[in-house]
Amino acid sequence: ESYDMGGHDTYMHKEISEQADAVDRVLRGRIDDRFSTVHLGGLNLDAREARGVRRIKILGCGTSYHAGMIGAGLIEELARIPADAEPASEFRYRNPVVDPDTLYVAVSQSGETYDVLAAVQELKRKGARVLGVVNVVGSAIAREADGGMYVHAGPEVCVVSTKCFTNTVVAFALLALHLGRIRDLSVSDGKRIIEGLRKLPEQIGRILESEDEIKKLAEEYAGAQSMMFIGRVRGYPVALEASLKLKEISYIHAEAYPASELKHGPLALIEPALPTVAIVPDDDLLEKNRAALEEIKARSGRILAVAHREQEKADHTILVPKNENELDPILMGIPLQLFAYHTALAMGRDIDKPRNLAKSVTVE
Ligand code: AGP
Repeated sequence: ESYDMGGHDTYMHKEISEQADAVDRVLRGRIDDRFSTVHLGGLNLDAREARGVRRIKILGCGTSYHAGMIGAGLIEELARIPADAEPASEFRYRNPVVDPDTLYVAVSQSGETYDVLAAVQELKRKGARVLGVVNVVGSAIAREADGGMYVHAGPEVCVVSTKCFTNTVVAFALLALHLGRIRDLSVSDGKRIIEGLRKLPEQIGRILESEDEIKKLAEEYAGAQSMMFIGRVRGYPVALEASLKLKEISYIHAEAYPASELKHGPLALIEPALPTVAIVPDDDLLEKNRAALEEIKARSGRILAVAHREQEKADHTILVPKNENELDPILMGIPLQLFAYHTALAMGRDIDKPRNLAKSVTVE
């Protein structure tokens, strides 16, 4: 992959289109079928040390923070280590308790984001162990960390992150699998996750083939003044990231909420002029998600669902291929990158250079 536009009108479109190859790259050379695990030598964390980790705290900003939220979920599900993500910018300023048994993970596409770098430096000063999950090789955060993994998304030029988000989440799935197999994840579950990971490039290719259909939907929704994005547990960070993408390039106001929180307030906003984009995976929470769609429909809200099968209550459903439940969030955000892209295009926005934003924020 290069800086050449390769026939695409924007870098964003080029980078969305490169995701099957990019995911292939983050997996390449890392899978160990013999032990149903992955090799992550760059972590500089041996099995004994990994077993001693009591907690994982993931720090990043913007899209990288959202990738970290999905990463925390994967680590809890596969490795059963308590994990959470926090914006690095907030973490720095709240005088956090730095615990020697916690493993800190700094996430960054550029590896140069000042808030993340400053958090890493503060943690190191206090003796914490910090790993980096970074795209740009040799960047400041990669150099400062005790170890880590590169996400190998290739150069990302567009101000808004797409392929790096996807690759970062896959990198977290590898980290979760690695830690899980050192701890209590069974061989068969390890194998199941590996099979799921291997399916991703082909499944991403299939999602990208539905671009024409997504474009039509985006043109239909482009007139909205505001949009609501909802998801539950695995789907919530997907909703957050999709709403950020839409805001960044279309300037449409968008909010993301856990679907379970609707009745605690945001349901008051629902009316025909406020469409809702709902993440509805075929997992243990399917019925709960469907109940949220019913609540919205009862208030005459328009619904665009991203789901594994047609949703009766939705006005439109974008179908995505099913993977293992834990890996579904990797795929469910991809059609919504295209949705944000075509919405912004229909509104005549400067997609690669949205107003007021820089690719990496290297100052405070
Ligand atoms: C992504 O679409 C954004 N422009 C922004 O949120 C970005 O993810 C954030 O500034 C962090 O950048 P980094 O990943 O390079 O650290």
